Amino acid sequence: MCGVFGYIGIRNPLEVCLSGLEKLEYRGYDSSGIGGIFEGQIVLCKKAGKLSALKNSIQLPQISLAIAHTRWATHGKVNDENAHPHLDFTQSIALIHNGIIENYKELKNDLLKEGITFSSDTDTEVIANLIAKYYEGDLVQALNATLSQLKGIFALVVIHKDHPDQIIAAARDCPLSIGYSDQEDESLISSDPNAFEESNYNIVFLKDDEIAKVQKKSIKIYNKNLDIISKKIERLEIDIRPPSKEGFEHYMLKEIFEQPLTIKKALLGRYDEDIFFEELKLSTDVLKKIKNLWILGCGTSSHAGRIASLLVEDWARLPSSVEIASEARYRNPLISEETLIVAISQSGETADTLAALKETKKYHCPNLGICNVKNSTLARETDGVILLKAGPEISVCSTKAFTSQIAVLTLFSLYLARLHNQLSKSQVKTIFEELQEIPKHIETVLNQLPTIQAIAKKYAKFEHFFFMGRGYMLPTAMEAALKLKEISYVNANAYPAGELKHGPIALLHSQFPVVAFCAHKKTRDKIISNLTEVKARGSPVLAIAPSDDSEIKEIADDVIYVPKTRDELAPFSSSVVGQLFAYFIAKERGCDIDQPRNLAKSVTVE
Ligand code: AGP
Repeated sequence: MCGVFGYIGIRNPLEVCLSGLEKLEYRGYDSSGIGGIFEGQIVLCKKAGKLSALKNSIQLPQISLAIAHTRWATHGKVNDENAHPHLDFTQSIALIHNGIIENYKELKNDLLKEGITFSSDTDTEVIANLIAKYYEGDLVQALNATLSQLKGIFALVVIHKDHPDQIIAAARDCPLSIGYSDQEDESLISSDPNAFEESNYNIVFLKDDEIAKVQKKSIKIYNKNLDIISKKIERLEIDIRPPSKEGFEHYMLKEIFEQPLTIKKALLGRYDEDIFFEELKLSTDVLKKIKNLWILGCGTSSHAGRIASLLVEDWARLPSSVEIASEARYRNPLISEETLIVAISQSGETADTLAALKETKKYHCPNLGICNVKNSTLARETDGVILLKAGPEISVCSTKAFTSQIAVLTLFSLYLARLHNQLSKSQVKTIFEELQEIPKHIETVLNQLPTIQAIAKKYAKFEHFFFMGRGYMLPTAMEAALKLKEISYVNANAYPAGELKHGPIALLHSQFPVVAFCAHKKTRDKIISNLTEVKARGSPVLAIAPSDDSEIKEIADDVIYVPKTRDELAPFSSSVVGQLFAYFIAKERGCDIDQPRNLAKSVTVE
């Protein structure tokens, strides 16, 4: 998982590539590098650390083309040597790579036996050397021979010192787009077309081991037999506005504050006496026939899926199961043409989610994508899609995408409930009106920022937390715990509140706080009992509770109040409290909030 970018054309390749890498840094920021050809030699500059480290140190001569990479380490430590591009042993070929070569060890052993030496720990260097081994003057042919040796999923971009007029690219189950201009002599390659600087490019997506020979004025695509093939050319609307923090200290805080607006956008144009989705290509006939749902996602998106599963059960009365995508793809699921697959992904590029979705295709299930990035692989590869319309989410820690996911999933659950005759028009109207109140509820939470900050400051010293909840508050607690873990590096586990006494309660003591999400009315009395149980073990207790619950402050050490609403809509406000709590703890602990260690915004490897 990494970002790859390439440029050949009339502009300065170095500048274009650095700007492309900025937009791809969400795919990894362990190291970055750029390579090109100068006077018949490969020249490189690569640096461990964020892109700013490369920018500060880059010194390259006037190169004719460039390939560039931002890395999330899979094989080998984060250091300059393991940064891409990688060279073959003759230093004739430079290669950048996104993905994993599963059989790289055996390939490397074979090459070692042939006397080839390596200077990095990466699987990438093996590919560069294989291409060199097969090279007899034609880079496309050498790459094609190499592809047949490789197992795994990947996107590759290659240059050769003897071919300063071409960049060669190939992809297997990994996004890779080629853009070319009608007006200018230039062509670009990117893991994500949204990294192209303008929206007037003709774009083709490579797949199934297709190879592209990319030149200033032409692009040729070859299939596995090396026949030149014609591909669908797409024109995509690309948002070229540079991201801005708009005065906020971090993107995360800006995105938290955007939520009243992003939720309004998620609801806008989707209700007119009944729920409807303009862009949803799935027919009502198909949706009426479904008997169950299989919901797929990772991390935050899987938590949104858990909420959706409860909503679909409560309102549409359809059974559903939520699967972590990395597990789902290796299951033997009981799904059929009557199962709706719902794949949830902010980025639409998460490898596990895409792979799980692909697995389900053999069962001929209809599928639906819930996605924020409209040109993403998920949005293109699902039968139907509902877009979040939340705008780019830059902070690695997902906030506004989560609440937009639950907003559109709430609408979709109501839509299914109508199609399956489980709710009347007037019931849906009432719920929709309450949903429209949510942005105001979130503003109420945001107005409590000083209180939440002060409470977070008090809790920032602890190294371990339990987060607990019941019903709709369980996925809310899971999401809040994930926020805390990923940006503060604090151990936070989420449990169903009733489950603590079956083991985990043994861990509790005065230095082990419990954060309890109490806004699920149906189980309110039960969670009060659970709170008294943890209080009796000496744990500090922070409760997030509805504003009309006056009793909770008698038990909890601290309470953050949220506006009261029906149980099904309670995750919104409580989640925003969880986001702010994690944000201020991370800030207090001096963490890198927008780009936490070891993470990337989009996880494009398994
Ligand atoms: C959330 O804060 C995370 N950074 C992470 O769990 C994320 O939600 C997950 O990787 C899935 O990403 P996606 O929604 O883009 O598929």
